[in-house]
Amino acid sequence: MQLESLITQLRAAAVGENPRADIKSLMQGALSDPEAFAAVLPEFEDDDVVLFEDDTISVWHCRFQPGKTVPPHDHKMLATIAVYRGAERNDFYERSVDGGLRKSSEVRLGAGDVFQIGPSAIHAVGCASEEPCCGIHVYLGELTKVDRSLFDLSSGNAMPFTDENYYKLVAED
Ligand SMILES: [Fe+2]
Repeated sequence: MQLESLITQLRAAAVGENPRADIKSLMQGALSDPEAFAAVLPEFEDDDVVLFEDDTISVWHCRFQPGKTVPPHDHKMLATIAVYRGAERNDFYERSVDGGLRKSSEVRLGAGDVFQIGPSAIHAVGCASEEPCCGIHVYLGELTKVDRSLFDLSSGNAMPFTDENYYKLVAED
């Protein structure tokens, strides 16, 4: 499926009756043949590219480089993670009673996998393959406009999701 038509369908799903289920099935359909999906994509220069955003939906192309882990963060909206190349490691965290962060689970997503996480979920994301991991991430809202949090793994402290805090926390494996 061409990217443009996928985005058009995702936008319709976002304002439809069952956005969660419809976005998931659209992404599963689009990635049923991950290689074919990859073949029609443009070459993206940056690792994170916003493909579309309005107040109902945000669609990103995300590339994760081997050896780097994106620090724990939340989204404040439903997130749908769809991988078409390589593999993505998702570490999920819960706030513990002492105010720290406790790892609760780990999910490895390979090419063709689609996974949804709720608005309050906290995850850190790394590349679990030797090649960069590439995927389409779909958020049910205007991701760049919402106040969300980054978390310091060692202290569990939440801080505003800003570029400055992000680069301070990016971990090298
Ligand atoms: Fe995320």
